[in-house]
Amino acid sequence: MQKLVWALLLAGVCFSFSRIAVHTVPEDPAFIPPSQQRSGDATKGYQYLVTGDYLKSGIPFSFFAFAGPKDTNNFLNRDGYNKKLPHDYTAVKAPNGELVVAPNCLQCHAQVFEGKLIMGLGNAQSDFTRQMSGTAVMAEKMLQQLKGNESKKYDAARNFITAVKTISPHLITSTKGVNLADGLAALLVAHRDPATLRWSDSALMPLPPAMVPSDVPAWWLLKKKNGMFYNGFGRGDFGRFLMASNLLTVTDTSEAAEVDRHFNDVLAYINSLKAPSYPGTTNAKWVTQGKKLFENHCSGCHGTYGEKESYPNLLIPESIIQTDSLLYSSNYSDPQFVQWFNKSWFTTGDHPAKLVPYRGYIAPPLDGIWVTAPYFHNGSVPDLECVLNSKIRPTYWQRSFSKPSYKFDIPGWNFEKKESPGGSDVYNTTLKGFRNDGHYFGDELSQPERMAIIEYLKTL
Ligand code: HEC
Ligand code: HEC
Repeated sequence: MQKLVWALLLAGVCFSFSRIAVHTVPEDPAFIPPSQQRSGDATKGYQYLVTGDYLKSGIPFSFFAFAGPKDTNNFLNRDGYNKKLPHDYTAVKAPNGELVVAPNCLQCHAQVFEGKLIMGLGNAQSDFTRQMSGTAVMAEKMLQQLKGNESKKYDAARNFITAVKTISPHLITSTKGVNLADGLAALLVAHRDPATLRWSDSALMPLPPAMVPSDVPAWWLLKKKNGMFYNGFGRGDFGRFLMASNLLTVTDTSEAAEVDRHFNDVLAYINSLKAPSYPGTTNAKWVTQGKKLFENHCSGCHGTYGEKESYPNLLIPESIIQTDSLLYSSNYSDPQFVQWFNKSWFTTGDHPAKLVPYRGYIAPPLDGIWVTAPYFHNGSVPDLECVLNSKIRPTYWQRSFSKPSYKFDIPGWNFEKKESPGGSDVYNTTLKGFRNDGHYFGDELSQPERMAIIEYLKTL
C-alpha cells in the first residue's frame, strides 16, 4: 500500500515536471529515507530549552543586568534569574560556579508576532548587518573591564568572548532579516578539532568564502521531515544537530556528551509543536476550489493536509526547482564543512548523525505557511502571491523592521517595491545567494486559481 501511494505521488510530481523542464531531461526527485530517533520527554525538553545550560559560558549576570538588553514581558513566564531576561537569553551557572547569561535557541527560533511570542516561528527580524553587534560589543567591553581584577568572572566568560570575537568580523550581511546560521556553524567548526572539539584561536581549515543568507524554518515542520535543513542533508540522530549551538562555547567532548543527553527531550518538545491557526476568516467556496487545485498541482511535492495527511519527503533537484543555488552548492565548492562534520565527534557513539549533501532543496511541509513569510530558503519573496506568480516578484523590496507590519489577506510582509537597492532594510535579489527566481509552478495557473490556492493555504 505504502509503495503504491509512493508511486502515485512520484507519477504526479513527474507529470508536473514534464511540463516545466522541456529542454532538459529532469533528474528525478530523491526520497529521503527516515532515520532512527531517540525518544524523549517534551516537558523536560521545553524546560531545558528555556532554562538549560547547553551553553556554559556567557556574559557575567551582573554585567548583563547592567548593560544588556532589557525586557519586562517575561513571555516564557520564567522565574528566578531568568524572570527579567529577554526570552532569547538564559541565566546559567558556568562550570566554576559563576552565574552568566548566554543566548538560547529562541534568538532565531521564536518571534514576537502581533504582540505574542510564537515558539518555533523562525525569527524574521534578525539583524546581522552590524559587525560586533549586540552581545559581542558587550563582551569586548567586559574583556577590558574584567581582565585581571575579577578573573573568576572572566574565566566563566572566556569561551564565549573568544568565540564571538573571532567569528563576528566574518558574520556580516548587507540585509536585515536574513539569518547567517549556516555561516556561523562553518566558522565555528573551522576553529575546532573534529575529534576533540577543542578550540583553536587560528582557523584549522579554510573559512567559508561567502555568507549564505537564509530564512529560519519553523520548528513545527520537523516532525514530518526525514532530513533536517533546507537541503535535507541532516541525517541520522536529529538531537545531534539540535545541540550544535553548543559548538559556540563547548570545552571538550565530555561537556558535549552531557549536553547531548538532553536533546532527545528537546526533539520531543519540537515535535510536539503545532502550527498556529490563521486568525482571520476564510471563504469556504474558494478553500474547496483551492484544495482541489493544490492537490493537482502541488501535493506531489508538498503532501496532503487534513484527515488523510501525507508527506512525500522529496528532495527536488536543481534542474527542477531553480531557486537560488548558493546554499547547497557551497557544500560542493567548499566541502570542508561537510568533511569536518562527517569525521567529527557528532558521528560517533550509538546515535550518530551525518551530512548527506544534495544539489537541490527539500519540498517543505506547508503547515502554518500563512505566518512564515518571507518565503523560500533565503527569504527572497515577501508574500504568497509572489511565490505563486514569479512575474510579480520584486527585485528590490523593503519592509519595516522598526514597526513590522504583516498582511493577512494575502499572507506575507507589507512591502514596498523599490527601483534600486537601498539601505539594510531593502532586500536586494541581485546579490549572490539572494536570488528570487525558480519555483515556477504557480505561473501556469490563472489569477483566480492562484487566489483560491492562497485561500486554501491559509487553512494549513
Ligand atoms: C543564529 C540563529 C540560530 C540559532 C541560535 C539556532 N538556530 Fe536552528 N536554525 C537556524 C537556521 C538559519 C536554520 C536553517 C538552516 C538550513 O536549513 O540551512 C536552522 C535549522 C534548525 C532546525 C531544522 C529545521 C528543519 O525543518 O530542517 C532545527 C530543528 C533547529 N534549527 C533547532 C535549533 C535548536 C534546538 C537551537 C538551540 C540549541 C537552534 N536551532 C539554534 C538558525 C538558528
Ligand atoms: C516539483 C516540486 C514542487 C511543486 C510541484 C511545488 N513546489 Fe512549492 N516548493 C518546492 C520546493 C523544493 C520548495 C523550496 C524552495 C526553496 O526554498 O528554495 C518550495 C517552496 C514553496 C513555498 C515556500 C515555502 C517556505 O516556507 O518558504 C510555498 C508557499 C510553496 N512551495 C507552495 C507551492 C504551491 C502552492 C504549489 C502548487 C502550485 C507548489 N508549491 C508546487 C517544491 C515544489
